[in-house]
Amino acid sequence: MLNTVYFDPKFSDEERRKQIYSGQIVVFSPRPSIQALAEHARQMIEEAFAPLDPLTAQFHMSVEEYVAIGAPLKPKFIHHPRTKELIRDVLLDLKCEAEKTYLDVPRLRLTTSNGYLTSGVGYAFHPHRDTWYSAPMSQLNWWLPIYDFSSESSMAFHPRYFNEPVRNGSRNFNYYEWNSNGRKNAAQQIHKDERVQPKPEQEVELDPQVRVVCPAGGIILFSAAQLHSTVPNTSGLSRYSMDFRTVNLDDVVNHQGATNIDSECTGTSLRDFMRCTDFSRLPEEIVSTYDTGPVSDGVLVFQPH
Ligand SMILES: [Fe+2]
Repeated sequence: MLNTVYFDPKFSDEERRKQIYSGQIVVFSPRPSIQALAEHARQMIEEAFAPLDPLTAQFHMSVEEYVAIGAPLKPKFIHHPRTKELIRDVLLDLKCEAEKTYLDVPRLRLTTSNGYLTSGVGYAFHPHRDTWYSAPMSQLNWWLPIYDFSSESSMAFHPRYFNEPVRNGSRNFNYYEWNSNGRKNAAQQIHKDERVQPKPEQEVELDPQVRVVCPAGGIILFSAAQLHSTVPNTSGLSRYSMDFRTVNLDDVVNHQGATNIDSECTGTSLRDFMRCTDFSRLPEEIVSTYDTGPVSDGVLVFQPH
């Protein structure tokens, strides 16, 4: 159960990870390093939608046109060399251990308002844990808004399930299979989403839920094992956010992290992570201790075209 949302705590990196593994959430106020990252994303988004305002562009174009702008913007942002450098700067500024912190490439999320686009590149996430998608139990999720947003366009946590298992489809999820088939066709999923994803297989009580709202330039940090979902956006404005993930080498080696209460997926996303300092990958002999199922017939690391 989530007990505490910590604002700008003075924890060491290690203490902070422990708190998050036990279900706490950490929020950082706006600071220059995060603002620089948000500003970089904002520039790319504004360039893509110009001359329209990205927050209201959806009201001036067909959903197909919106997707035609949004779909190429995502990989462009994700793989822009400046993006991972700015993320590294944020992590070092927030006292992550440089030599031991590994990060993956960020995701850019477009969450339009009024049910305009809720699939594919604008996927509105059902309640899930990232650990159902082969994230390690030590994964931390860093979520940051690119513009100010409101409760009506936020993300919801469902904290009672941090310690309570949810029957779910993760047993059918294999990360390598997802890399080879599941994730590449997002841009084609405009009116409905046919990608097979791990979902709850029981009634989930979405209320009471906790929504955390911080200004652009801040970050919300939580465990990959938190059950969370996209709030149906009724704010009247599109919401743009990004999120990236980190793991700490010691915790990966020692298989430490949140407790696995209901994830049964196979494969691991650990090969996606790069060390903060030199962007080198985790040693394969460590990663392979996370491979519980067959590694054949799939793609270990997703390569977008
Ligand atoms: Fe998630």
